[in-house]
Amino acid sequence: MSKQQNSMMEWIDKRFPLTITWKAHLSEYYAPKNFNFWYYFGSLALLVLVNQLLTGIFLTMNYKPDAGMAFASVEYIMRDVDFGWLIRYMHSTGASMFFVVVYLHMFRGMMYGSYRKPRELLWLIGMAIFFVLMSMAFTGYILPWGQMSYWGAQVIVSMFGAIPVIGDTLSNWILGDFMLSDAALNRFFAYHVVTLPVLIVVLVFVHIIALHETGSNNPDGIEIKANKDPHTGLPVDGIPFHPYYTVKDIFGVVGFLIVFCGIIFFAPEMGGYFLEDNNFIPANPLHTPDHIAPVWYFTPYYSMLRAVTVNFLGVDAKLWGVILMAASVVIFCFLPWLDRSPVKSIRYKGPYFKFALTLFVISFFVLGWLGTKSPTPLYTLLAQIFTVIYFAFFLLMPWYSKIDKTKPEPKNVTK
Ligand code: HEM
Repeated sequence: MSKQQNSMMEWIDKRFPLTITWKAHLSEYYAPKNFNFWYYFGSLALLVLVNQLLTGIFLTMNYKPDAGMAFASVEYIMRDVDFGWLIRYMHSTGASMFFVVVYLHMFRGMMYGSYRKPRELLWLIGMAIFFVLMSMAFTGYILPWGQMSYWGAQVIVSMFGAIPVIGDTLSNWILGDFMLSDAALNRFFAYHVVTLPVLIVVLVFVHIIALHETGSNNPDGIEIKANKDPHTGLPVDGIPFHPYYTVKDIFGVVGFLIVFCGIIFFAPEMGGYFLEDNNFIPANPLHTPDHIAPVWYFTPYYSMLRAVTVNFLGVDAKLWGVILMAASVVIFCFLPWLDRSPVKSIRYKGPYFKFALTLFVISFFVLGWLGTKSPTPLYTLLAQIFTVIYFAFFLLMPWYSKIDKTKPEPKNVTK
């Protein structure tokens, strides 16, 4: 640094802990040296978050949150606003890619036991982010006011109506009307552009602070803080985050951008998975589409909602569906306490865990696929079978993770 830059830094440091923060969180934050491909997705989630915030601001400049004008204002953005089509596709593709990245990020945590002690709170903060992310996607999808926006929201809000006693009052309160209308569009717009983005940014900040308190886990699932060099006091298996992982993450960003741009420029609708055909038709409260399905990232849970077809214990099937669907997401919060294995990472876990995780992934994909289809007796049966497998992964975990034949963990991280 030149003399002038030095004195400028000194000036700032006396007023704000810039150098201290830089060192604590980047140049002297020691991360395990064995991070692999799966460790790209945290920084990629940050990148997508920034993309959503920036493109969202530009969309808001031309979007009209009015049931009579919303659909046309989106068409106006697509056709008449300079580069409006690009901004919109960056935002709509970003929404789906957010889920791709976050699902892979969560899967990494499940493989390497990153939810285990001492990172339980980090995992729970992650889950809070996930809930907000789902609300962001739901409220955002309503905004173009197409047929799928309208009827998708109708299905979700009607779920609240299934709650005994307060159901109807609650759904009217959520909608601000007796049906899905302009009032709901206006409030969902407010949540989507103000409340939820602020919440997610705060939660991501807290997520990183919690991560830097415990330190990162790694593919071996061992604690690098437990093995420090007696002379330097630094973790033997650690390297400074900056420059090593900033450079690695740039590589991930380039790879991601190639895929992201490929989708935006060549397949922005992604065969109806990222933007559905029905949503290019303006919302019509008098015409229900033949087939209502949410966007792909919600379809596994939607399948579980539809899987319950019989009333039991005096409770209506629809309410059971809603309970099951909520439970299918909330259950991730309990992972830190369900896993009783003596080791964290899949590398040292035994065949039972590997088998259970494989079945879980298969059930997630099958349920996701079934959720895009109209229900038939066969599909409903399949949804019921895979719902059982999905929940068995979690509910049987205390048992199979305890009796599984694990391998001893190494003292130092391996490749
Ligand atoms: C907007 C969404 C999110 C962002 C921006 C984000 C960001 C990050 C970043 C930058 C890291 C450190 C880099 C890495 O380990 O890949 C991280 C780690 C982690 N995140 Fe997230 N995250 C998000 C959502 C989630 C969710 C939904 C969960 C789980 C429920 C989660 C759980 C974790 C865990 C357990 C770690 C530590 C992993 C380890 O050290 O092995 N995160 N996150």
